[in-house]
Amino acid sequence: MISNILREARIHEELAEQLIPASARPAFHLSSRTGWMNDPNGFSFYQGKYHLFYQYYPYESKWGPMHWGHAVSKDLLHWQYLPAAIAPDTLADRDGCFSGSAVELPDGRQLLMYTGVVAGPRQPDGQRKDVQTQCVAVGDGVDYAKYPGNPVLTEFDLPEGGNRFDFRDPKVWREADGTYRCVVGNRPADGSGQILLYSSQDGFHWKFESVLAENRNRFGLMWECPDFFPLDGKYVLLTSPQDMLPSGFEYHNGNGTLCLIGGFDREKQVFMEESNQAIDYGIDFYAAQTLLSPDGRRIMIGWMQNWDTLAIASLKAPWFGQMTIPRELSIRGGRLYQRPIRELDALRSGHVSYRDVDFEGELTLEGVKGRKVDVTITLRPGDEAQLYRKFAVWFGQDGTYHTAISFRPQESILKIDRKFSGSRRAIIHQRRCQVPQGNGHLTFRMILDRFSVEIFVNDGEQALSATMYTDPAADGFKFFAYGKVSMDVEKYDLDADPE
Ligand code: FRU
Repeated sequence: MISNILREARIHEELAEQLIPASARPAFHLSSRTGWMNDPNGFSFYQGKYHLFYQYYPYESKWGPMHWGHAVSKDLLHWQYLPAAIAPDTLADRDGCFSGSAVELPDGRQLLMYTGVVAGPRQPDGQRKDVQTQCVAVGDGVDYAKYPGNPVLTEFDLPEGGNRFDFRDPKVWREADGTYRCVVGNRPADGSGQILLYSSQDGFHWKFESVLAENRNRFGLMWECPDFFPLDGKYVLLTSPQDMLPSGFEYHNGNGTLCLIGGFDREKQVFMEESNQAIDYGIDFYAAQTLLSPDGRRIMIGWMQNWDTLAIASLKAPWFGQMTIPRELSIRGGRLYQRPIRELDALRSGHVSYRDVDFEGELTLEGVKGRKVDVTITLRPGDEAQLYRKFAVWFGQDGTYHTAISFRPQESILKIDRKFSGSRRAIIHQRRCQVPQGNGHLTFRMILDRFSVEIFVNDGEQALSATMYTDPAADGFKFFAYGKVSMDVEKYDLDADPE
């Protein structure tokens, strides 16, 4: 039995999707089936397929009462839409089914755990605030039934000082002993953020365990969308802080991303933080979530947008919002590394390779162009005695448009600039990132998919993501060197469009 609200969404999305040609979407990044998409939810491997749900408002290309959209894939690159999984249709979630996650139950069903939102009573200032609780639903990979006992975690499960208006985004997993854990974002009495840890024997009855980690007003305020997992002998806590202040080139203003690496005290159930870094240094990245693949890879996906750059949205667009390329995570030298999933290699064709191209000034290279491409550029000084001043590559380029990556070796700063990438809004279009000093030596890989670019520096040591709004016919590449540069270029076409 599905509710009228969900049935209506399913009918609407099926019709609306047909009006969007495949060429108007990214080819191998998941985009909203129709209307609005934000955070990835329920990223999981279930019954032989990868499942990816997402924050979804099917009726318009703007945020609205949250449903969960749903898609499945064998390789995380070719996606097939399934009917919307859940809608705001019960007493526990009537104003929104916010972000959450998925886990398989021992009986073979899939459990979705999400935040139920209900507008609370009017406050003295006349405002109504949303009260947030955690809810669950169980299903078979297509249809899900909300648990009649919802909500399963409420304000009564908060530690002292915890806030019921900011209590969201459960990330659930199953421990080796068969019991369940989840982490949830919350706002403590100091007004910033904290991550709470809960446990359950069956996935339905939950108990508060500990405050896993505290922000203490260091990295923004509220911490949204936590994820917590072991990786390469360490523990990793990912979260997306709101209201950040900039810190050097590491963190920027507004909604950001944070990766904390450290240990886990199993006695006290507390994360022991050792280091911190941004997850992505580009313009459009938020709300990352991971899964463990059947072959043991920790794979992360993020929303390739950010609340602070949303002015770029146009209500005329039939869809808005896409995910990043899924990325394999590892820790090297105490840092989080991310590389595009290896499945991407199967999409490659049309290899073009240039070695030791020595140049100064402007350059184009025969065969290096396209809007769905995988391009790796390796830079060296063309003259070891005199370091070049600047290198730049323009892509998505024609007479009107281009998106640029530039590198200043002296300062070791890499910059992405999408000012000329089709946006008609005065929002952030540039971001700079400090890369390790290499005296003019730098390698970076660029993945383009019609409306986005993702850059992986030095084999994944840093990643930068940005969406672009340029006409897909603008597909040129142009290279610039101020001073002598020696460069290698490896280019492949990437395709996953339906045959
Ligand atoms: C993060 C977020 C989550 C929330 C969801 C609502 O982008 O604000 O905290 O669950 O979006 O759509």
